[in-house]
Amino acid sequence: MPVHIVADTSNRLSDLRVMLERHPAVTSELLSGASIRCGEFDTVVVAADLQVVDNIATLKEMFGKLTHIRKRIFIIDRKTRLCTVQAYALGATRVLVNPVSQSRLLAELADRSHPETTLNKVLPSTREAAAAGAAAMASMFSDALTGNPIDVGSAKGTAGKIADRIAEDGLCDWLETVRHHHEGTYQHCLLVTGIAVDFGLSLGLAKADIERLYSAAMFHDIGKAKIPLAVLDKPGRLDARERALIETHPLAGYDVLKGNPAICPEILDAVRHHHEYLDGSGYPDALCAGSISDLVRILTISDIFAALIERRPYRPTMPRDRAYEIIRNMEGKLERPLVAAFRAVALNR
Ligand SMILES: [Fe+2]
Ligand SMILES: [Fe+2]
Repeated sequence: MPVHIVADTSNRLSDLRVMLERHPAVTSELLSGASIRCGEFDTVVVAADLQVVDNIATLKEMFGKLTHIRKRIFIIDRKTRLCTVQAYALGATRVLVNPVSQSRLLAELADRSHPETTLNKVLPSTREAAAAGAAAMASMFSDALTGNPIDVGSAKGTAGKIADRIAEDGLCDWLETVRHHHEGTYQHCLLVTGIAVDFGLSLGLAKADIERLYSAAMFHDIGKAKIPLAVLDKPGRLDARERALIETHPLAGYDVLKGNPAICPEILDAVRHHHEYLDGSGYPDALCAGSISDLVRILTISDIFAALIERRPYRPTMPRDRAYEIIRNMEGKLERPLVAAFRAVALNR
């Protein structure tokens, strides 16, 4: 697997070359003179200061031409939200934070958690829609974090392209692509969007309802921009304080979006209430069945399923049939006929 290294300083470049000296096919160049040619490698490792405007501009131009590259590993100096968001916005498929050990980097390069033969069958248009979706997520999260208005039109446009891909290529390719190329909250939101679209299509919803559904899915966890990454990405069990912090995200998302004229009340309601259950045991408002809309009921099932099947470090990915069984056993919390209808999406589509 040929690897190309790009770094913004000669020190970073030589450190990475030393780390990868035993890797069979490595090329490298400085970011300032980068002249990457397409088709010569399938992995790029980038080590650069993402707070430097020139670096961002060069990387943006570079990755605009490299959407076919399967693995784009960015190494950043500090785990700040903005640097992480910036890396994903530029097209990263994995972000590592310094100090990165040789073994960690080699493990990332060798990671083939999804068989390449399967991925090779995935259409480039699916990969491009996923990359555009991740970039839209990164931009939304960055705006939510800095207090800028969210570009709702752009996010909806990207979600519409995802919906086109699901309608044409089906859900399987989408799940494979997103789980392989993206991680964390972006992976989750992209999975929810694809699953919600497929669920809406299988239910025969009208076009306008599907548009509301995929928009709600894109925005549903925007409030997580306000949660520290140390809590959001914590690999082990959350303690009570951390759990309480995570549970602030629906209200935080509602607050981020509520003044935005491009957001309709149904989407705002879905962002606030996607963790409510029919039996009143959800949060933040402990709503009961009569107060939970159909859109929210569909989104909640899609959200739970996505959370169960997403790829996470340190644990194997849950098979779709096992995830569906868990949903089916959530007695009283989810609408039974909808859960029954979801079976086809979960297992077959
Ligand atoms: Fe959520
Ligand atoms: Fe979610």
